[in-house]
Amino acid sequence: MSTKATLFSGMAPSADSLQIGNYIGALQQWVEMQDTYNAIFCVVDLHAITVPQDPKTLAASTRTTAAQYIAAGIDPEQSILFVQSHVSAHTELAWILNTITGFGEASRMTQFKDKAAKQGTEAASLGLFAYPTLMAADILLYDATAVPVGDDQRQHIELTRDLGGRFNSRFGETFKLPEAVIMKETARIYDLQNPEAKMSKTSVSDSGVIWMMDEPSKTAKKIKSAVTDDDREIRFDRGAKPGVSNLLTILSAFTSTPMPELEASFAGRGYGDLKSTVADAVVATFEPMRARALELLSDPAELDRILSRNAARAEELAKPKLATVYERVGLLPRS
Ligand code: TYM
Repeated sequence: MSTKATLFSGMAPSADSLQIGNYIGALQQWVEMQDTYNAIFCVVDLHAITVPQDPKTLAASTRTTAAQYIAAGIDPEQSILFVQSHVSAHTELAWILNTITGFGEASRMTQFKDKAAKQGTEAASLGLFAYPTLMAADILLYDATAVPVGDDQRQHIELTRDLGGRFNSRFGETFKLPEAVIMKETARIYDLQNPEAKMSKTSVSDSGVIWMMDEPSKTAKKIKSAVTDDDREIRFDRGAKPGVSNLLTILSAFTSTPMPELEASFAGRGYGDLKSTVADAVVATFEPMRARALELLSDPAELDRILSRNAARAEELAKPKLATVYERVGLLPRS
């Protein structure tokens, strides 16, 4: 690899499509950053199974997620785009990191607390508890220094820094410490029907989620039914106008228009007008991506070849790093 810094990020194939928050919060940044970094993008299937997945659909969702990365503009010849379970060093390093992670420290992860509460704490698995150490392994394995993500991942990246630093001080300088790259304006997209809650692939109601793979007419309909407020003014104010602010954020991200300019252009116009403009902008971006993803998915053998080649590229970087880690920890090398 060149002297460029390394970027690592990933998404869980926990639904049959990514949602607009994944795109605005992360994927859009990935595409912009892939030229300036040695970029590594992972479909984190082992993270997906920390909550129950249907074995009949998981492989398909994994392919669909990879296809959406490519359709959004990730170049799998230039960047490395692979499936997490194809490179076993991730789980092997995660185990080592588990041994230097405090139980209390892991218990403080808010995403674990939220997800565990959703399932009922008794049903939450040890895998869900260890989700952040697997994520730390993903990042540390490649000495990634930039991790572009949405706001909800900030705490996990701080933990990754802590674990990397702890390993370095106990066993000798081994890992580079990563920084989260979080775009302030677009770090959190909210549910269209419940604009106080983060939009999520696992939302209970479908009507509040915009899926990248949805048909354009469905997307437009959802946006036109988005919850707003009783007021009439179009301005960004997250506290007082969460629904309108969310729509403005989406529009700003899709049209690269700064918020003050958008607000000025909507002065005196109504919510119906705002919604149609947002729907047109989203459909204009997502429709060609959906078509490209479907085209890629129509030839799964070719897609699998791309993923296999890229897993080999990732493994070439990951294996020597894991060997160094094992050696530093004092594990007996297999002769
Ligand atoms: P996942 O699949 O939950 O989310 C993928 C990415 O989308 C961002 N995101 C959002 N951004 C803005 N608004 C939203 N409503 C929204 N919903 C999701 C997430 O912040 C994330 O960037 N744990 C990671 C997956 C992962 C990973 C890694 C990321 C595993 N290993 C290593 C970076 C580096 C996750 O949240 O996936």
